Amino acid sequence: VSRVIPVDTFDLVIFGGTGDLARRKILPGLYRRFLGGQMPQDSRIIAAARSDMSDDEFRAQVRAAIEEFVAADKRDAAVIDEFVARISYVAIDATGENGWAQLKDTMRDGVIRAFYFSVAPSLFGAIAERLSDHGIADPQSRIVVEKPFGRDLASAKALNAVLAQHFAEEQIYRIDHYLGKETVQNLMAVRFANILFEPLWKAQYIDHVQITVAETVGVDGRGAYYDTSGAMRDMVQNHLMQLLCLIAMEPPYHFDPNAVRDEKLKVIRALDPVAPEDIVRGQYLKGGDQDGYVAHSGNPHSRTESYIALKVHISNWRWKGTPFYLRTGKRLRARASEIAITFKEPPHSIFDDAEGWRENVLVIRLQPNEGMNLMVMIKEPGPGGMRLTQVPLDMSFAEALGEEGEDIPDAYERLIMDVIRGNQTLFMRGDEVEAAWAWADPIIEGWERRGDRPRGYEPGTSGPEDALMLLHRDGRRWREIR
Ligand code: BG6
Repeated sequence: VSRVIPVDTFDLVIFGGTGDLARRKILPGLYRRFLGGQMPQDSRIIAAARSDMSDDEFRAQVRAAIEEFVAADKRDAAVIDEFVARISYVAIDATGENGWAQLKDTMRDGVIRAFYFSVAPSLFGAIAERLSDHGIADPQSRIVVEKPFGRDLASAKALNAVLAQHFAEEQIYRIDHYLGKETVQNLMAVRFANILFEPLWKAQYIDHVQITVAETVGVDGRGAYYDTSGAMRDMVQNHLMQLLCLIAMEPPYHFDPNAVRDEKLKVIRALDPVAPEDIVRGQYLKGGDQDGYVAHSGNPHSRTESYIALKVHISNWRWKGTPFYLRTGKRLRARASEIAITFKEPPHSIFDDAEGWRENVLVIRLQPNEGMNLMVMIKEPGPGGMRLTQVPLDMSFAEALGEEGEDIPDAYERLIMDVIRGNQTLFMRGDEVEAAWAWADPIIEGWERRGDRPRGYEPGTSGPEDALMLLHRDGRRWREIR
């Protein structure tokens, strides 16, 4: 039985259609949705970019992208032919007048029109303006905007304002691809579809929360962008913040876009400022024959962080007193993202085996090998008396769900289908993005003002030594990155 939710016929225009994101994620994702039967046969994809190119030349690029980024068992020659036949190309000048009349002629009436802005944010305004001036977008049209959504509060406000001149908030889909990840959505299901966890989900029972997004890749190839950003802007303000919100938010009254986003917004507004001693920034060093961060960034004096760890407090009734430790970095030991919720001790121990006792930990693995792991105490089997030991209740989603689990759609393909369905739940609202920047700005300004330098760390490790101290001084430990 197919669980695929059908979507209406659409014309999707991808600005920046020849760019890296389109090649790696958007086009291969659309192909997989086409293969999966979710993209209606008569839908079309129109790539728009600056260079002159024929439809066939662009289709050849799409074929190459599918070859490179779609798994071999999903590449079906006949389906690929059908898919690329639905793609056309328009050369367009985002800031000039070239190509817009042609784009208008290409669009069909009576189908959903969606416009994906996979371009630099500096072009958002120009494109939005031309779409409305030329009458290419209608009031039902949707626009999708990519990160980075600003680099501080002022620039995010300016972007929101420029988009608002031409589009209503209900038409704007700000992508944070972390929200499209299966396990991230599962956070909400686990919390709100079970009675089991929610009663314990508060400072009274939770000692602390760790959110880790560790990567093995460096910034090679995108150093010029990355050096103007750093881990705080690139990962924390958006992706880790979204994870924190989903863990910390109050139950929304319904799984409805604004109800969910209202609750996330309240969490962000309740975040305390972060003290300088609760921040550790790092930069990966040269290792073996691999260049270090400064070589990748092309800036020998760079103070941009490729790693950051922070201790964050949420000042509200539910969370007062429970720290959230966040960390993310490049060139670390493993690609491993997880959320670990460590519970407190039982109020009184009736067992003598104090040494065997460990805290309950609920680990939600985002990637790889998505799943959940609940560490529980049991009696050590055998005749050794009442000795305690900890065992995992381990669940891999792929295993638990069998074949369906293997077919988990990639974050981008799911989010694009949500755009066509008109469902904004997994997209950031304008006020949410602004609130996240309002929290991040003083943190960044603080280290810039103090002239703090990131600590060097060896590639392939779990980051700078100082980050260990962030937890040690609280009598806690980071989980191992594996
Ligand atoms: C992007 C960041 O938003 O997310 C990258 O710009 C980062 O620096 C990437 O590597 C991580 O995404 P994922 O899905 O691989 O965890």
